[in-house]
Amino acid sequence: MRKLIAGMFVVCLFLCVSGCALAATPANVAQSGTGVTMIPADQWENVYPDVYASYMANQENSEVMDHPTEYPMLATVYEGNAFSTYYGSARGHYYAIQDLLATGRPHKLANCFTCKTADFTHMTLEMGDSAYALPFEDVAPDMKQDVGCFTCHANDPSTGVTVTHLYLANAMGEDASKVAAANAACGQCHVEYYFDPDSKATTLPYVGMGVANPDDIYAYYQAMDFADYVNPRTGVRQLKAQHPEFETYMGAGSVHASMFTCADCHMEKVTKEDGTTYRSHTLVSPLQSETIMANCAACHADLPDFVHGIQEKMEARTIAIGYKLEDLTNKLADAVASGNYTEEQLNTIRELNRKGQWYWDFVFVENSEGAHNSRLDNSCLDKAEALIDEALGLLQL
Ligand code: HEC
Ligand code: HEC
Ligand code: HEC
Ligand code: HEC
Repeated sequence: MRKLIAGMFVVCLFLCVSGCALAATPANVAQSGTGVTMIPADQWENVYPDVYASYMANQENSEVMDHPTEYPMLATVYEGNAFSTYYGSARGHYYAIQDLLATGRPHKLANCFTCKTADFTHMTLEMGDSAYALPFEDVAPDMKQDVGCFTCHANDPSTGVTVTHLYLANAMGEDASKVAAANAACGQCHVEYYFDPDSKATTLPYVGMGVANPDDIYAYYQAMDFADYVNPRTGVRQLKAQHPEFETYMGAGSVHASMFTCADCHMEKVTKEDGTTYRSHTLVSPLQSETIMANCAACHADLPDFVHGIQEKMEARTIAIGYKLEDLTNKLADAVASGNYTEEQLNTIRELNRKGQWYWDFVFVENSEGAHNSRLDNSCLDKAEALIDEALGLLQL
């Protein structure tokens, strides 16, 4: 109890101090229309040498982990979706195009480039939404730059962050002024999204931050009767969550959302010998940075230990529920094949499976493994587990 009160005290204190500061600096939004130009990253090297060097250092982060080997249940849980065969974990932005070409997932349209290259962002600003539906192969030769200065600053880094991925501006809607620029910068890609079935445009499943949460997003997908893929054995019309770091970190339950931005924890502020500072553009884990951890030390004596503790519990829970989902998938497939169930009974179970997988996937594909918002993640896993258990309970014939 004492611990709880002490914790609440510091949280309240900080809500005021930086909550106000954060709200003061929303991002700009890029202009669209014919004649939009793009200044490539290397043109900024002489103007911002330190930032440029730190941006280029993202190349050093080249490790990649292969999820299907580590999580064998994925072949079943994602059956019917190309993710079941290759799902590399995130690594440096510099490798975004290369990794996209290597996935072995079938690519059809240019919309796959949405989060990979500033060249495509430029194209969407110039052409509008029709760029998303262009054939992948037609566009690929022109995609040369990865995530560039243009992605987060348009053509003028001196004016702060500019949102160039307009679907994010649409999704934030009237709440845009409440979202700190350094959160919006990353929310351009680290979000849940879908391709509009008609226009093929990359779209976020919400308008307004109040509905940027797993419950309302599910309701949004239900209302439009959306499915990413259909499991061939069970007939479940499944949703594939993407990387909802933005929604998770900004969502209810987040301890630090009004205190720190993505940049505070992933881009260190470097003080040079002459006393001037700049924002490093090498994206790091806060646990890799002495400079960032110095800002946490007052409250977290051993941050790595604390974070790893949260992550280990979340991973163990996620994997355990993943196996339940695998079990449900196999049992439902058997039930479909058995002929013992009416279509109506099967549809009830399919709906539970669809929803349970959604909540599970929302946690599984979020890259912080619980560190961004363990309360939200745990509430998703609670819901997933209850739905899966209910479905398994109906499969007793
Ligand atoms: C992924 C998004 C992203 C990319 C790509 C990016 N920046 Fe930034 N940049 C940011 C964020 C976030 C901040 C911090 C803004 C804040 O604190 O509100 C920032 C801050 C800056 C600043 C001012 C702050 C300082 O102290 O240095 C400059 C200048 C800058 N960036 C230049 C560049 C240049 C040049 C490039 C390309 C080499 C680039 N940025 C690429 C997101 C980005
Ligand atoms: C244009 C899209 C885009 C934007 C904007 C973006 N990211 Fe990323 N980010 C990606 C992609 C794609 C990957 C995975 C790269 C891969 O595995 O090929 C990634 C990977 C990462 C990783 C893991 C790899 C690493 O370098 O350690 C971190 C951390 C990260 N991003 C943080 C951020 C932060 C913080 C921001 C905002 C300042 C941001 N990203 C903005 C697309 C983006
Ligand atoms: C209060 C600090 C904090 C803030 C703010 C924060 N993160 Fe994180 N983030 C973390 C921690 C801690 C991890 C786990 C790092 C680790 O495992 O080493 C993490 C992990 C990640 C990863 C996975 C990195 C990898 O190598 O796989 C991504 C991507 C990421 N964060 C993006 C974001 C984005 C986007 C935002 C803003 C919407 C954000 N983070 C805000 C602390 C933070
Ligand atoms: C003013 C005190 C304070 C500071 C400074 C602070 N934190 Fe925290 N942090 C807390 C409290 C309180 C919690 C909630 C602890 C709990 O749930 O038991 C927390 C929780 C967290 C969590 C887990 C979030 C979750 O959802 O479970 C992470 C990760 C984290 N902090 C990272 C950081 C990082 C990185 C920094 C420095 C950039 C930082 N914190 C600075 C007080 C602080």
